[in-house]
Amino acid sequence: MKALLIVANFKSNKNLSEAKNWLDEFSTVSNERKKIENKKIIVCPPFTLLFFFKSYIEKKGLPIELGAQNISRLPGGAYTGEINGSQIKDFADYVIVGHSERRGSFGEDESVVEEKIKMSIDYNLNPIFCTQSDGEKIPKEVSIVAYEPVFSIGTGNPDTPENAENIAKKIKEESEVSSVLYGGSVTPENVSRFTSMENISGVLVGHASLNPSEFLEIVLNA
Ligand code: PGA
Repeated sequence: MKALLIVANFKSNKNLSEAKNWLDEFSTVSNERKKIENKKIIVCPPFTLLFFFKSYIEKKGLPIELGAQNISRLPGGAYTGEINGSQIKDFADYVIVGHSERRGSFGEDESVVEEKIKMSIDYNLNPIFCTQSDGEKIPKEVSIVAYEPVFSIGTGNPDTPENAENIAKKIKEESEVSSVLYGGSVTPENVSRFTSMENISGVLVGHASLNPSEFLEIVLNA
C-alpha cells in the first residue's frame, strides 16, 4: 500500500475557540489507527494557532504533523509582520510555498517563491510546492509538489483524476520530486478517485478541511 499525505490548509480561518472545537472533534482519528497506518496527516493552521495545535497534539498524542501556510523570504530581523523559518520550525516541519492565492493576491512571483523554498530548506522545513500545471520550473530541493489548478480551488469543480494523474506523472518525469499531491475541491466523495491514481501521493484540502468530521472522512476514504 503506498504512503499518502493528507494535508489540511485552513487558509485565513479559525480563531482559538474554533481551533479547539476542531481538535476536540478530529481527535477521534486516534481510534482509527488501522485505517490511517499508511497515511500522514499534516494540518496547516494559521500562524496564530500553531502553538496551540502543537501543545494539544502532544498532550493527546494525536497522529497529526504540522505545517505553516507561508514563510518569510527573509531571515529574522527588522521585517515588520513577517514570520521567519526559525520561528516556524519551533512548531512545524512543513510549509506551503507558492500557493496560487499568494501568487495572485500577494504578488509572489517565481523569484519570491524560489527565495521562500531556499528559506524553508535553510531552516529544515519540508516545502510543499504548489503549482498550477506541469512545465513550471521546480526548485531541485523540492520533494513534495501539490498540483492545484486554479479553476478547481474553492470552486466545487475538481480536475478529473485522469488529468491530475497525467500531470503528476509529467512532474515526476521532469524533476526529482518524490510525491505529487492533488488539490482543488477535494471532498470525502471524490478523494479516493485521486489517491488511487498511481502517481498521486495524497491531497491538499482547503475548504473541506475546516469541518473536522468532513476532513476525518477524507482521511479515512483516501
Ligand atoms: P479547496 O482549496 O479544497 O477549498 O478547493 C484547496 C487549496 O487551495 O489548497
